[in-house]
Amino acid sequence: MTKRAVADSWQRGRAFLGVEHAVMGGAMSWLSERHLVAAISNAGGFGVLATGSMPVELARAEVRAVRTMTDKPFGINLIVMHPALSDYVTMVIEERVTHCVLAGGIPNRETVEALRAAGVKVLLFAPSLALAKRLIQRGADALIIEGHEAGGHVGPVSTMVLVQEILPHVTEVPVFVAGGIADGAVTQAMVLLGAAGVQVGTRFVCASECIAHENFKQRFIQAQARDAVVTVQFDPALPVIPVRALANKGTEQFNRLQMELVREVREGRKARADAQLELEHFWAGALRRAAIDGDVEYGSVMAGQSVGLVRSIQPTARIIGELVERVAE
Ligand SMILES: Cc1cc2nc3c(=O)[nH]c(=O)nc-3n(C[C@H](O)[C@H](O)[C@H](O)COP(=O)(O)O)c2cc1C
Repeated sequence: MTKRAVADSWQRGRAFLGVEHAVMGGAMSWLSERHLVAAISNAGGFGVLATGSMPVELARAEVRAVRTMTDKPFGINLIVMHPALSDYVTMVIEERVTHCVLAGGIPNRETVEALRAAGVKVLLFAPSLALAKRLIQRGADALIIEGHEAGGHVGPVSTMVLVQEILPHVTEVPVFVAGGIADGAVTQAMVLLGAAGVQVGTRFVCASECIAHENFKQRFIQAQARDAVVTVQFDPALPVIPVRALANKGTEQFNRLQMELVREVREGRKARADAQLELEHFWAGALRRAAIDGDVEYGSVMAGQSVGLVRSIQPTARIIGELVERVAE
């Protein structure tokens, strides 16, 4: 593929997001709030506000706060399985947020249609080619493919395989690649393969503007790639979405809780959905404990494998500069 082709796919991503650099800041619960989102957008990237940890009115206030800190485009991330999803959708429309990333499940047609009818661009996660095609039919304006290397909740397939399976066969909408992306060479490679841009989470944790606790950032700087491990599902009676985080006492607590919940589900003392919700609440609380309160021993230090490539705390603009140095040539 030629330099021209690189320019074309990168340009498509820039135009879709309305930014100088097609680098999305992957939404991270507790961390992708006004400061990091505005910093990424001000640096020419595309900040995405996380709502996973916020009640809807707090999320609305955060949208408004971002607008006081930047006049550049930014997006918002909603969790599909959230019981109050429709309230968040209404808020996104009322606040005229331009781009909405729907994560944590496949959204129903009504949700996608409501957003699109209001002029909001909808980005969806595609875990396979078959699903990518279905999501385009459902109205996705763009897709994100996120490999197993990523931090937080992860799918089973690596970025390396997903890009081969999906990128050559999806031309209808722009496709952004996430999971394990940490430098300019790999960003260039993804765009060469046809990506419209990249989405990065782990590397932005150590941005100076990110509100993560100093202990959390230092754990990132010390960690090797192999330290960022994925949780295991103990029993098909209780399906759990794997989470990638640095192994610590918090991981052990999660395992004990999972074991207890498996027992309760098996004995009919708890509904499967309630047990799954309890595990998600565990993660939200544990991430806050580590990322905000600084308890990196018992909290959850969610991180992707690219944590091994994070060496220092840097201004957001520097990180974005490094990510785009080869595509912007
Ligand atoms: C600490 C942390 C929290 C995250 N929280 C969310 C979230 O709330 N919603 C979501 O869609 N993705 C979440 N992610 C995934 C990121 O948005 C992004 O897709 C991912 O980090 C990209 O891969 P990378 O970690 O290899 O850069 C989180 C990732 C991390 C590291």
